[in-house]
Amino acid sequence: MRRLEQGAKLVVASHNPGKVREINDLLRPFGFRAVSAGELGLPEPVEDGATFAENALIKARAAAQGAGLPALADDSGLCVDALGGEPGIHSARWGGPEKDFVMAMRLVEEKLQAAHADTPDRRKAHFACALALAWPDGEAEIFEGRVHGHLTWPPRGERGFGYDPVFLPEGHDITFGEMDPEKKHAMSHRARAFEKLVAALREASS
Ligand code: IMP
Repeated sequence: MRRLEQGAKLVVASHNPGKVREINDLLRPFGFRAVSAGELGLPEPVEDGATFAENALIKARAAAQGAGLPALADDSGLCVDALGGEPGIHSARWGGPEKDFVMAMRLVEEKLQAAHADTPDRRKAHFACALALAWPDGEAEIFEGRVHGHLTWPPRGERGFGYDPVFLPEGHDITFGEMDPEKKHAMSHRARAFEKLVAALREASS
């Protein structure tokens, strides 16, 4: 991977303050200073890619070109095997304008029942995350992570967000919504993608 100078400024291509904070914490040990696309007043591009990686790339490239600095973006979602991978890249959209994920989880469940997906094996799903690091000239690297499991019903647990209350990660009998957030963050799709990014940053700065 192309080298990033110590102390380099990086744009986090997100307008979500929680996400920016999380990425900032991760970059600090490498001496990078992160600024968000929101702080720089950069517009949000249309995410019309067909995959998580394409959408992460669209966001990272738009921010890198807009700011003239390297930029990092992520895209993530829940993929359900019996639904052909849906909601997938449309995971946020299934929550509607109100970001109502109780409704989105119910919609997933209705579709699973219509597909007669009534055993854990037929209710397999995974969360996926793609991270893209792009430079202003368009060069980019992608890092991807997944966590596999299956869906349960009804939803369980008040922790986490989005589809967490219906997702049982492999080898566990509690949902991400019931799990200690630190434990979730140690095994999540996002954590796995970040681990790959961190390994590449370490190699590039050594
Ligand atoms: P985006 O990556 O911000 O475009 O949105 C991804 C959407 O996928 C979120 O709105 C959530 O509904 C869902 N999602 C992504 N990661 C997780 C997770 O760790 N737990 C629950 N839902 C998630």
